[in-house]
Amino acid sequence: MRKTIFDLLGRKGKLPVSMLTAYDFHTAQTIDEAGIDMILVGDSLGNVMLGYENTLAVTVEDMIHHGKAVCRGAKQAFVVIDMPFMSYQASVEDAVRNAGRIMKETNCQAVKLEGGLEYADRIRAIVQAGIPVVAHIGLTPQSVNTLGGYKVQGKSLEKAQKLLADAKSVEMAGAFAITLECVPAALAKLITSQTNALTIGIGAGNGCDGQVLVYQDMLGYTNGYTPKFVKKYADLHSVMLEAFKQYKQECEDRIFPEDNRTYEINEEVLQELFQPELVY
Ligand code: KIV
Repeated sequence: MRKTIFDLLGRKGKLPVSMLTAYDFHTAQTIDEAGIDMILVGDSLGNVMLGYENTLAVTVEDMIHHGKAVCRGAKQAFVVIDMPFMSYQASVEDAVRNAGRIMKETNCQAVKLEGGLEYADRIRAIVQAGIPVVAHIGLTPQSVNTLGGYKVQGKSLEKAQKLLADAKSVEMAGAFAITLECVPAALAKLITSQTNALTIGIGAGNGCDGQVLVYQDMLGYTNGYTPKFVKKYADLHSVMLEAFKQYKQECEDRIFPEDNRTYEINEEVLQELFQPELVY
């Protein structure tokens, strides 16, 4: 049975919710099999799957393409798909139309968009259209050029108050969950205690209602920069690198493929092929 918005909201203040990103069918299947509650098809797709410098180039088509694959793989997890940069910023109408496309074409359970008070009207309109919304405040990577980099948010009194106000306004607009990215732990805990929405932290400490990580980060899939908040549960990069190197060597040494991995041909057919008068 697939988890519902009510199953998730019922966990607030009780059992924390787990969420991981996924961008393809097999990863979604494995995450689902592990019993993870929510899957996010994040626009981090741009960085971790498509090799872009940031998330800004990701399109609605990209999100739908990967979202469809994830939704085919997830049977019990609640799937949320990110609305990419400029799919909701320009107008309420854009926001509803693109959220509708994403839900209709992928079969996901909710969409996520970045921003607080300034995007409350988009959230309200999308929710009114029957589409559950996860808000995303704190470090909002689509605004990396305005924020001047990927930095912890809400450290000053003024910025912390703005985050509290943002959380309230997205909740009032109808968001059932709020992603808190790179927010001091004590502030995230305070926000969590002041909202009825489910807070899902990434770099926001242990006091949130749930946690989310990018799966490549937590599996150690790449050997690049890893943010402080990431815990590596595996070292997939080393495992893959070793396997690729061994394969290369075995190809060059004609060790691979071994006899038990090859197909045979009837000896008589083979002899016929070696008839000198036959020219192919
Ligand atoms: O795009 C993404 O993966 C996200 C997470 C960082 C929360 O928004």
